[in-house]
Amino acid sequence: MSPDRNPLRLGSIAPDFEAETTEGPIKFHDFIGNSWVILFSHPADFTPVCTTELGVVARLQPKFQERNVKVIGLSANGLESHKDWIKDINEVNDVDLQFPIIADADRKISTLYDMLDYQDLTNLDAKGIPFTVRSVFIIDPKKTIRLTLSYPASTGRNFDEILRVVDSLQLGDKNRITTPANWKHGDDVIVHPSVSNEEAATLFPGFKTVKPYLRFATQPGTQPATI
Ligand code: BEZ
Repeated sequence: MSPDRNPLRLGSIAPDFEAETTEGPIKFHDFIGNSWVILFSHPADFTPVCTTELGVVARLQPKFQERNVKVIGLSANGLESHKDWIKDINEVNDVDLQFPIIADADRKISTLYDMLDYQDLTNLDAKGIPFTVRSVFIIDPKKTIRLTLSYPASTGRNFDEILRVVDSLQLGDKNRITTPANWKHGDDVIVHPSVSNEEAATLFPGFKTVKPYLRFATQPGTQPATI
């Protein structure tokens, strides 16, 4: 595939699809509606790392909802298997999982979203068929892909990091800022390089210049720290 034809690049419109989920059938673009969406896949139902991950996402769901983010999982198993597994996830993690999980037994959607890694020999089922990898897509309300991640089967993801990226993207969409390494909500932000010093004086009063190309400002919408 030529790089500019890859439909899953950042800035592409997330491919639409119809699917059965544990919360009923969906058409993906209708499901997105006016929300942000985190679409994430995991290798298979009833696997240990995945069981912990889905528990973490269920616990974080109120934080995603506060940010107008819907979460939706996917694994290449059928609906009945998903529903049985959710009982285990709830029991093991002491949660009440409320988001949909796509049933993708025929791997149609995981193929559409390039979630099957045929080259990763650590991620094969008993028949030698690749599992879905731990993919993450952050999709905005315009249905544009804003982040993609691919983790190995052996490593559970850090969903606080996914939340942190949502915060950074949403803040950057509203304000002419970027966020530095290890930034978290409430920390100082970076004035976008396209903002002149004259504009910055109005937009970010008291901004600090470390280098002409590196200017910090208080995160918009938060009060300056009091001592
Ligand atoms: C897991 O979720 O624990 C897992 C899934 C597939 C391969 C290895 C680990």
